[in-house]
Amino acid sequence: MEQLVIEGGHSLKGVIRISGAKNAALPALAATLLAGGEFEIRNLPELRDIRTFLSLLEGLGVTNSPEAQEPGKGRRVVLNTISISNHEAAYDLVRTMRASVLILGPLLARTGAARISLPGGCAIGARPIDFHLKGLEHMGARLTLKAGYVEAKASRLTGAEIYFDVPSVTGTENLMMAASLARGKTTLKNAAREPEVAALGQMLQAMGARIQGLGSSVIEIEGVKELKPVSWDIIPDRIETGTYLMAAGAAGGELRLQNACPEYLEAVIAKLREIGLEIESKGQELWVRRKRRLKSADVTTLPYPGFPTDLQAQFMLLMAISEGLSVITETIFENRFMHVPELNRLGADIRVDGRSAIVRGVKELTAAPVMATDLRASACLVLAGLAAKGKTTISRIYHLDRGYEHMEKKLAGAGARIQRIRAEMPY
Ligand code: UD1
Repeated sequence: MEQLVIEGGHSLKGVIRISGAKNAALPALAATLLAGGEFEIRNLPELRDIRTFLSLLEGLGVTNSPEAQEPGKGRRVVLNTISISNHEAAYDLVRTMRASVLILGPLLARTGAARISLPGGCAIGARPIDFHLKGLEHMGARLTLKAGYVEAKASRLTGAEIYFDVPSVTGTENLMMAASLARGKTTLKNAAREPEVAALGQMLQAMGARIQGLGSSVIEIEGVKELKPVSWDIIPDRIETGTYLMAAGAAGGELRLQNACPEYLEAVIAKLREIGLEIESKGQELWVRRKRRLKSADVTTLPYPGFPTDLQAQFMLLMAISEGLSVITETIFENRFMHVPELNRLGADIRVDGRSAIVRGVKELTAAPVMATDLRASACLVLAGLAAKGKTTISRIYHLDRGYEHMEKKLAGAGARIQRIRAEMPY
């Protein structure tokens, strides 16, 4: 069992290169199922979720070349999708990564059949996939639920008008991919506007899909008979970028972030400036500095372009050490405050009341052993370790490895005292 040990209280200074976005890479890998041939995907982050997704694709018959590291550019993988020999995503994989559901739309659209395990609950809430299923049904798919699996069949999907009750990121992506090969026009209303959704749409356009309205809440897709393979670059990870901006807020000092995409982070940058961080952007670079103690501010998570739920835990850490009282409201997932008891172990003063957390800033956190509970909560604990006085040990860091590429190396390169160790667990 690996752990991170962080000696807090040392300010940061240095340069960090932002990796390709996990949440853009997963749908891009899924989209390769839509056309037979050789795809090249570049700027892939080196993450456990990406390896899991590549195994999932291998299970369907997609072969991939060994990933090669391109200096300063992330990883590159070549996928061959000519022959799809299987239609199933098994429970063992879907259980570890809900985003496996992304194969449903493209696999069904290309081959006429898909069988995928239902994901079940996960740590941050129920996270159903009913929008994905209802949407495909509207497009003419026949669905059966059997033994924890959903089986979908359709000789060719037909375009439909689909309305999302709330905007769903992977839901929009799944249906956009399916609609690209459907007969006729599909309109997705109240669709997700996240940059990762738009990036997938652009990849599909490069493959020959006819899509309009990317980045807006109404996306129109005119189905085509066939798509072609492409070579594609994954966009920078805005959640990783936001996490490092906040790392500078937690530890103090200054950081330069390269290969970032500042325009994806407007709501976050505005909020961080409001609490007293100095942030400047130029092209693909961001510069951040904390000179004095931060001030508190309220925040509510919302679909893009609002403040992202994936940065809520990290922002809460900043509020825990800021001056004043703040209210953090989580509107996307119902159980996303599992980091609160861990932060309180470090001396924070946070009380959860329904979907809000009331955070009374304290002057100082003190190190203690803590446990990561999910991906973004683990990033929040790393930031807490940077801020806390003494040595913080974080266990269950496999959550972190799902979504942050070499986080401890990146932070250590910028002056943090952080180490990954192998520890024997007492149970
Ligand atoms: C994606 C991101 C995740 C991020 C989340 C919200 C990926 C791989 N993951 O997750 O990092 O935290 O967006 O920004 O891109 N919902 C339903 N039924 C559905 C689908 C969703 O009720 O069929 C609800 C969810 O429970 C949630 C809301 O819709 O309350 C939004 O979830 P959604 O955007 O679908 O999240 P994911 O795509 O799973």
